[in-house]
Amino acid sequence: MTLKRIIPLALAASVFITAEAKENPLIRISTDGTEMIMTVADNGNLVHNYYGKKFKNALPYQTKKYREQPDNGAGFAPQAFPAYGGYVTISPALKLVHSDGSHTTHLKYVSHSVTQLQDDVTRTEITLNDPLYDVDLTLTFDAYGKENVITQSATLTNKEEGRLTVENLASTYLPLHADSYYLTHFHGVWATEMQLVEEQLQPGIKSVESKRGVQATQTANPAFLLSLNGPAREDHGDVYGGALAWSGNYKLTFEQDECGRMNVVGGINDFASTYYLDNGQSLTTPDMVWTFSDKGRGQVSRNLHDWIRNHSLAHPDMERPVVLNSWEGAYMNFDEKTITDMIDDAAKIGVEMFVLDDGWFGNGEYARNTDHAGLGDWQVNTEKLPRGIDYLAKHAVKNGLKFGIWIEPEMVNPKSRLAEAHPEWIVKSGDRDRLQIRQQWILDLTNPEVQDFIVKTFDDVLALSSDISYIKWDANRFVTDFGSEHLPSDRQSHFWIDYTKGLYSVYDRIRESHPDVMIQLCSSGGARLDMGALKYHDEFWTSDNTNSLDRIRIQNSTNLFYPAMATASHVSTSPNHQTGMMAPLKYRFDVAMSGRLGLELQPKHLNEKEWEFAKNAIANYKKIRPIVQFGDLYRLKNPEDGSGWASHQYVSKDGKQSVFFAYSMKYHGRTTFFQTRLKGLDPDKQYRITEINKAGWPSFYGDGQVFPGDYLMNEGISLNGGNNFDSTVLHIEEI
Ligand code: GLA
Repeated sequence: MTLKRIIPLALAASVFITAEAKENPLIRISTDGTEMIMTVADNGNLVHNYYGKKFKNALPYQTKKYREQPDNGAGFAPQAFPAYGGYVTISPALKLVHSDGSHTTHLKYVSHSVTQLQDDVTRTEITLNDPLYDVDLTLTFDAYGKENVITQSATLTNKEEGRLTVENLASTYLPLHADSYYLTHFHGVWATEMQLVEEQLQPGIKSVESKRGVQATQTANPAFLLSLNGPAREDHGDVYGGALAWSGNYKLTFEQDECGRMNVVGGINDFASTYYLDNGQSLTTPDMVWTFSDKGRGQVSRNLHDWIRNHSLAHPDMERPVVLNSWEGAYMNFDEKTITDMIDDAAKIGVEMFVLDDGWFGNGEYARNTDHAGLGDWQVNTEKLPRGIDYLAKHAVKNGLKFGIWIEPEMVNPKSRLAEAHPEWIVKSGDRDRLQIRQQWILDLTNPEVQDFIVKTFDDVLALSSDISYIKWDANRFVTDFGSEHLPSDRQSHFWIDYTKGLYSVYDRIRESHPDVMIQLCSSGGARLDMGALKYHDEFWTSDNTNSLDRIRIQNSTNLFYPAMATASHVSTSPNHQTGMMAPLKYRFDVAMSGRLGLELQPKHLNEKEWEFAKNAIANYKKIRPIVQFGDLYRLKNPEDGSGWASHQYVSKDGKQSVFFAYSMKYHGRTTFFQTRLKGLDPDKQYRITEINKAGWPSFYGDGQVFPGDYLMNEGISLNGGNNFDSTVLHIEEI
């Protein structure tokens, strides 16, 4: 299985339109249901006219009056990519200092071209330049027809004689006009990622950003929803979804200006990131991923899930296996027998992949027995594992499981042979002592030697056994006191951008030589969850918080953008190691089965009854797995709305199968009960509903019965239950 990539088709038609050939071009960037419209004003400005639902009829934009609308009241329409200069006083998408010291840039339309990249994917490139200063800016828009996604990036090229100073180069700018704007964004910290906030934006600037470099998404995520004229609803209303595909510092600004317009600028954070381009050099931004729906945020999620699965995820057609990860079950305290016993148990209970987590490497004084030593020394700990990784991997394969292993290749403990051998490879700000977080430092990925080391680490770890088919790639701290011994003193501000580009170069090389290996994206949980990194990976570790009640919220927010098939979701022990909360095994399974199911516990600690439940639940998961992993998500009850219920459904693409989940998140009293309408079914078909993962009495009155689709979608279903930790999973099949 290989990664799906976009390969420009040489045979595809290419249209090239120049300003001379056609005056005032109208540029329509269209998907099946949406479009973005830009025109060229008489003064040469590229005007952003529209992004929203696709128009059915011919457009009036060819006439000047409409072309230069919407006017902002100050006599000019919003530019498609506002550079600081002229009348631009909002936060600009571009801010340059030219080689003669001038701080202003006026961009004018030069040309655009349209290329068919794939049957359903069209690329529009628009070139602008400044008539006074020789800088070119190319805006690239890729329109994905059936997913209704448009990605945008920008490439700046310095053609001036001297050095060009780039103070800010965003990926995207979007002007919108409505009566009110509601932003859904996310905050958090370790084990509390993706905490949802929805707020009405007010005049002024709201920004969502990261300055951590690594772990850029631990405290906020570069994905958001912007709803017009009211809070985002599930199935109604105009909602934009945006996500920056960048695994470093980012900044999203939402500026409501004096005209009531919302100006959205998104891209790499300009914080301490001044970038210098010599003559002939270019800088390309990451993609901003956009989607729009006039039918609420549910459709926004489905668009993004489809786009990620079709274009931005490794092995999108492969069912993700059920995993047992050793971390919470063994931590670093294991020997060979601990692991082979876990593998034996995993095989008996139905697990398909065993992952050996942290603690298997480093020797002697640098053995990785705690987090104080060993990172960087990626040799097998011969005391713990005398027969090496190959013995364990073969043991797994012999028992019918695949085998995976944990690495954290960007990091180094001061107590390691690597730190002693290559102090110049470690991030450092001048003469300042390096700060430690989790007893570790960060390798300087701006340095090609470090990039080579990481690629070699990956190769060497895979070479430990031909039976390793999965890597968990972790990154457990963020950048403090940035600086690089590799970069010249007048280029230290290139650190943030070059680190992330270095990381992507490493990912590219690894994927080139190891296209088949599964890779999990992990950073102390969900601290590196963005569409830039995700495309190299098969899945992500959502959070180190495995407490089911917390996971309902974390997964719900995560799955607003990122699909369930990539959402690693593990059943752990009770009381939970992070929160101390106790929850029934059924509840823990019912929550984990809504993503990519796994276990994060010592199986031998399960009692007989729990063992049987777990085995049965894993078998059930395998039945519903294609619906969860490849189906459409419909949210029914929102865990954020205060009702104390969370509920959602997945529906298979052919509409014939669905799986329904409901979780009680508080005690609801004796007299209230859960009722909801189902979604995504065919009103004219009949469906059999079977409750799975039953523990004790059934919670659905109609277990095993057949219901008409229109009944289920209009009257709906009710459930027997409302205590803390009640939960229900229903398998719905067309008959
Ligand atoms: C991070 C990860 C965990 C585990 C530990 C190992 O915290 O998120 O899942 O791998 O590191 O040290």
